[in-house]
Order: sequence, then C-alpha cells, then structure tokens
Amino acid sequence: MEDSIELILQDHVGIFPSSKPHPVLSACTGALLTGLYGVWSMFVFPGSRRIPWRLKVPYLPSSKVQTQNVMKLLEGRRGRLADLGSGDGRLVFAASSAGFRGTGFEINSILVAYARSKARWKGIPSSQATFVKKDFWTTDLSSYDNVTAFLAPGVMDVLGEKLLKELPEDALVIACRFPITSWSPQSSAGSGLDRAFAYDISSVRSRLRTPSSTAAE
Ligand SMILES: C[S@@+](CC[C@H](N)C(=O)[O-])C[C@H]1O[C@@H](n2cnc3c(N)ncnc32)[C@H](O)[C@@H]1O
Repeated sequence: MEDSIELILQDHVGIFPSSKPHPVLSACTGALLTGLYGVWSMFVFPGSRRIPWRLKVPYLPSSKVQTQNVMKLLEGRRGRLADLGSGDGRLVFAASSAGFRGTGFEINSILVAYARSKARWKGIPSSQATFVKKDFWTTDLSSYDNVTAFLAPGVMDVLGEKLLKELPEDALVIACRFPITSWSPQSSAGSGLDRAFAYDISSVRSRLRTPSSTAAE
C-alpha cells in the first residue's frame, strides 16, 4: 500500500513540477516587462520624464463635438488663448479661425512638429497659431485671456490652483470633459464625454473669497 502511494506521489511530482519559478526565468520576465513598459511610456508620454507621475497626461484627441462645445463657450471672447497640452493642434486651429491668437503648449515633440507642419500647410501665420514645445506646469500663463485644457481628472484641481495664481481677472478657463471640482462653472456646453465647462476667473475668485455664497446656492 505504502509503495503504491509513493508511486502515485512520484507520478504527480512528475506531472506538476514544483510551483517555485526558476530565478533566471523570473529575472528575464521582470526585465522583459520593464523594457516593454519603457517602450510603451516612450510613445504615450514622450518628453514628460521630468513631470511627476501624478501630473502625467497621455495624448487623447478631443472629438469634433467636444471642440464645438469649447468654441460655443468661447463665443463673444477675443484675445490670446492658451491650449494646455495642445496635441495635434485641433483646438488651437479652431480658436484661431474664430479670431483668437492661439498658442498650444505641448510636451510631445512629435505632436508639436505635426501641429506646426499642419499650420504651415494650412497657411496659418504664427501670429494666429503658435505651437511651443514646453511643459505648461512651468510656464507663466499670466498673459493669456483664455485658457483651454483637455487633460485628466487627477490634475484638474492642481491646474486650478496654478491658474488662480496667474491668470488676469477677466480670464476665462474652459475645462474639457474633466471639470475643476473645487470651482463652480459659470456655464457648460454639451453632455457626457463631450461636455466642456467654463469658469470666469473673477467669479471663481470672488466665490472662493466668500465660500458661504456657494453653499447657499
Ligand atoms: C488629452 S490630450 C489633449 C490634446 C488636445 N488638446 C485635444 O484636445 O485634442 C493631452 C495632451 O497634453 C499633453 N501634455 C501632458 N502634460 C503636458 C505638460 N505638462 N505640458 C505640455 N503638454 C502636456 C499630452 O502630451 C497630450 O498631447
């Protein structure tokens, strides 16, 4: 009987080898995954190595409807417009054709090159649409009357703090898809993923000075 149990156990050990992974295999798998992650992040976050992980935002182009919603909220406005994270430049182009002097700040050099060549191809002068390869977190935005941002939910409130410090009193901020949750929007356009939110800096500042007015509404 004991002999047959030993035989069965030996058979099972043969079929199901020890579950401990081989150390060399583990090391190779780890190195491969790290390499794949490095290649992936080079494409998704090129140029953003110096930006803290919690502030990184990947490229995702806004839809046509989303751009139209932003333009609706900008109706009646003029002057300088900064698009923070301008991607392929679509928002800056829409703004420049509505009369704004648009500047796109973009960290991804491939997208900056694409937007610049598109501007040249469309014959848009740099006074109307400019693309700068620059991290907007380290850019002084105090000379902009209008700011648009399609970024990520986790960065919007951090952005709000920066804009509150820097923007002129009559500035307008448009947040695409992801609102600045610590502010109350003055208006919005569209619905679902295409929704855009408009904030008058003067109203935001006065509400923050008298927080009870927000609570009473
Ligand atoms: C969600 S995409 C929006 C692109 C474009 N505005 C649009 O509406 O199609 C966000 C863009 O922000 C860029 N970005 C992220 N962090 C940035 C930073 N700190 N400075 C400049 N650009 C940044 C990304 O490379 C990406 O192209």
